[in-house]
Amino acid sequence: MSTQPVQIQPLSQPVDIGGAASFSPEVEKEIDAHLAKYPVMRSAILPLMFIVQRERGHLDPPGVAYLANRLKLRITDIWEVATFYSMLHTEPVGTYHIQICKTLSCKIMGEPGITQHVCNRLGIRPGETTADGKFTVSLVECLGSCGTAPMFQVNFDYHENLTTAKVDQILDSLT
Ligand code: FES
Repeated sequence: MSTQPVQIQPLSQPVDIGGAASFSPEVEKEIDAHLAKYPVMRSAILPLMFIVQRERGHLDPPGVAYLANRLKLRITDIWEVATFYSMLHTEPVGTYHIQICKTLSCKIMGEPGITQHVCNRLGIRPGETTADGKFTVSLVECLGSCGTAPMFQVNFDYHENLTTAKVDQILDSLT
């Protein structure tokens, strides 16, 4: 019986994600200053990601390509980090990004009702952004504030011991 030789396919092909982003001389200087702080270049990955995200709104493919070039890493190295942390965004988010903790302490202290209330108020579901681009709602893992559950984070601010009345106050202050 004759057998055909097995064709080994490569696991993945290089992906062309287009050109890299470019930044102003001021931003380049800021990036250089971070790179100078670390003996190992890749250690600067998080500060550089925050700068690229701040400048571009999220970590889009050109921003990721820029980071890979500057840090001399593979694109996949950048994506691995970008998709691990909930404070890094690979898709556009609204002006106010509401990240609701869905982990155990928050869940048993009322997260489902808080999520429902936020979504009802904004007319969107978790993972969506309002049509005016103002709010994005995400469900995230523990934000390290379990003793004050339920809680959510709006951009970089924590809001704790949430009730629906408190949620209304917070949302009213943002509109
Ligand atoms: Fe929600 Fe830890 S479980 S902050």
